[in-house]
Amino acid sequence: MNILLIGCGKMGGAMLRQWVRHGEHSFTVADPAADDLPSGVRHVSKATDLPSQAFDVVMIAIKPQAIADVLPDYAHALKEDGTFVSIAAGTSVASLENVVGDAAIVRVMPNMAALVGMGVSGLYANARCTADQTRQIVALIDQTGTCIPVDSEDRIDRLTAVSGSGPGYVFELLRSYVAAAEELGFDHDTARTLVFDTLSGTVEAARQSDQTLEALRNSVTSKNGTTQAGLSALMREGQLDALFQDTLQSAYARAVELK
Ligand SMILES: NC(=O)c1ccc[n+]([C@@H]2O[C@H](COP(=O)([O-])OP(=O)(O)OC[C@H]3O[C@@H](n4cnc5c(N)ncnc54)[C@H](OP(=O)(O)O)[C@@H]3O)[C@@H](O)[C@H]2O)c1
Repeated sequence: MNILLIGCGKMGGAMLRQWVRHGEHSFTVADPAADDLPSGVRHVSKATDLPSQAFDVVMIAIKPQAIADVLPDYAHALKEDGTFVSIAAGTSVASLENVVGDAAIVRVMPNMAALVGMGVSGLYANARCTADQTRQIVALIDQTGTCIPVDSEDRIDRLTAVSGSGPGYVFELLRSYVAAAEELGFDHDTARTLVFDTLSGTVEAARQSDQTLEALRNSVTSKNGTTQAGLSALMREGQLDALFQDTLQSAYARAVELK
């Protein structure tokens, strides 16, 4: 496919690198600030540099508040049977339709793990998308990690709270875990290795196991041992469950508010 990417910042740039690595599609980036683009990617600074009806996909990766101003200038570049794809948080299909009219529109909620090809994205296609268009975009997003199609925009808002914002929670968890390890006497680099390898190894072990997470936790917790002592503090009065529920509910409420 011939794809136009409008905005190549943190998220658009991370996804572009994965697409270029796969080498299946041609890309043009429209971003006045874009430098250091992967080789083979075309760059334009303004919409008037683009021919009409040249792209199968116009991908919107600018800040949500800029879309109404910027997107109309680029709309002519999409082929008649092309698809608009937006990764903008909190921007509904209805508000995109207000800008580009009645068109095939796909909303994608990616996350920053796309940077290393391990992103997880939700995808919602509006009623104008054909099965073929949806399949093509699912395959495109799969190249950045895992793509999970959903059947309502509300699922996108819920998924935003879980995985879209997820890297923020995990970076903070890592920061706090590493700081606690340093408090126990480890230098920063050793603390990072201990925490990062514990986390990634444990996630992989859980992924490869057919046991429940509760069973796995119990399998490493002997009675009156060190893990039990640590878990008693971590889970005191259900504080961990309450904290995660509050975190996800707050992010979901904000996603709904932003629409
Ligand atoms: N970052 C995330 O974790 C994340 C996760 C999920 C979804 N998203 C969504 O992804 C979108 C982009 O976010 P981001 O974090 O990548 O933001 P970002 O780093 O600020 O990237 C936006 C890019 O668009 C450029 N831009 C500004 N005006 C433009 C114009 N008129 N035409 C073309 N390009 C223009 C910006 O250039 P300047 O810097 O020069 O303004 C910048 O390079 C947002 O809608 C956000 O909601 C982000």
